[in-house]
Amino acid sequence: MTIEVVRMGPPWAEPVAALWTREFGSTRVASNGLLHDLLALPTLVALHDDAFAGAVAYRFDGDAGCEVVGLASTVPAVGAGTALLEAVAAEAASVGCQRAWLVTTNDNLGALRFYQLRGWRLAALRVDEVTRARATLKPEIPARGVDAIPIQDEIELELPLA
Ligand SMILES: CC(C)(COP(=O)(O)OP(=O)(O)OC[C@H]1O[C@@H](n2cnc3c(N)ncnc32)[C@H](O)[C@@H]1OP(=O)(O)O)[C@@H](O)C(=O)NCCC(=O)NCCS
Repeated sequence: MTIEVVRMGPPWAEPVAALWTREFGSTRVASNGLLHDLLALPTLVALHDDAFAGAVAYRFDGDAGCEVVGLASTVPAVGAGTALLEAVAAEAASVGCQRAWLVTTNDNLGALRFYQLRGWRLAALRVDEVTRARATLKPEIPARGVDAIPIQDEIELELPLA
């Protein structure tokens, strides 16, 4: 059972788009007042025994560092999410980024657990930012998320990079 992380390529276009749509309601992600097209961003893919197991899309944002814009796995708890997160952090560090950061939503308790167990720290709370994004950027954001919790706020997490 091995996890390998590879750069996005044509064989993964369809599963990656399907994964983003399943997890984020479309291939677009709103974060911190911006709308990102996940399919236009650099992307790494996780393979579990050579089969598609997840993906991460990211972008470099000048002094703000490297933003992990989308991360999801299709095969839970085999290490795909961790391998993808570590691969982005390594790439960001290798090009001189001082920090990696990401945005999750107030309902996503599993993601808050996942990131904090991997050394990420809470960096900002943007109250009602998701409500604004739903009204102005991405109407497909559902009203309720995990456990039917109303999705309203953005939580930013960060990881200092060496
Ligand atoms: C958050 C998410 C990316 C985690 O992905 P994942 O592939 O399940 O992550 P991992 O397998 O690396 O880790 C999950 C758990 O499995 C465990 N695990 C990892 N490898 C394992 C293995 N070989 N055998 C058994 N368990 C393993 C890990 O220890 C981890 O548990 P822990 O958090 O208690 O340490 C995934 O749940 C997901 O896609 N969520 C929906 C989308 C989402 O919310 N994305 C984040 C938006 S900001």
